[in-house]
Amino acid sequence: MQDNTRTEKERKFWSKNASGYDQSIIERHWKIYPSLLDKIAQDIGTGGTVLEVATGTGLVALKMVSAADHVHAIDISPQMIDEAKKKAEEMGIDNVAFSVEDAYALPFGDGMFDTVVCNNALHNMKQPEDALSEIRRVLRPDGRFIAIIAGVGESLKFKIVLTISTLIGQLPVFHKLNLDEFADFIDKSGFAVVTKERLKHPEDSMALLYVISKKDE
Ligand SMILES: C[S@@+](CC[C@H](N)C(=O)[O-])C[C@H]1O[C@@H](n2cnc3c(N)ncnc32)[C@H](O)[C@@H]1O
Repeated sequence: MQDNTRTEKERKFWSKNASGYDQSIIERHWKIYPSLLDKIAQDIGTGGTVLEVATGTGLVALKMVSAADHVHAIDISPQMIDEAKKKAEEMGIDNVAFSVEDAYALPFGDGMFDTVVCNNALHNMKQPEDALSEIRRVLRPDGRFIAIIAGVGESLKFKIVLTISTLIGQLPVFHKLNLDEFADFIDKSGFAVVTKERLKHPEDSMALLYVISKKDE
């Protein structure tokens, strides 16, 4: 059974930030995003059905539409999904569907997706292992999983700053993994890690940790 208090807390935090998310969070904190989006769109390969988990305002999903046959993107926040849908409509994109869903209980059948992407979100989930178990279930045998998190665990300074921010309620839960710990976590969740790397723009303070894996049978 879902813990509704946990889910509600996560939903509320992100909904509050939805309208200014692209400008206030992404453009200010993550200069890496334009090249990151290009890289993800390239790494998913051509064609196929792709699921994006925790899409936010759809930045990644709307980039992947030119490579994939179809993209389905979900997020727990209705406000985030509204922003994403607005952009898709303005851009005239018709091979993407956005819906409000919880990563801990995905409403999709087993093995439905060729690729799943989860960008900059697993570290913000209270129980990322529940999301990984669902991602694994909906991925086809041998399907690809691209997971990216903020590299908080790469430096003691970030660990301290983020611990304080979560304690005073500025941020929701924040897991503090480094690249090897993140790759191990993916590996132990039923995936075989193919590549792992740090991505960092010179103007960003923190790196993103980028892991490509395959569903381990
Ligand atoms: C830092 S934002 C990243 C958004 C997007 N992936 C991007 O790269 O811009 C984290 C997102 O995770 C979503 N999220 C958090 N918990 C979730 C859950 N249990 N299920 C689905 N989405 C969730 C939030 O609503 C938020 O949009």
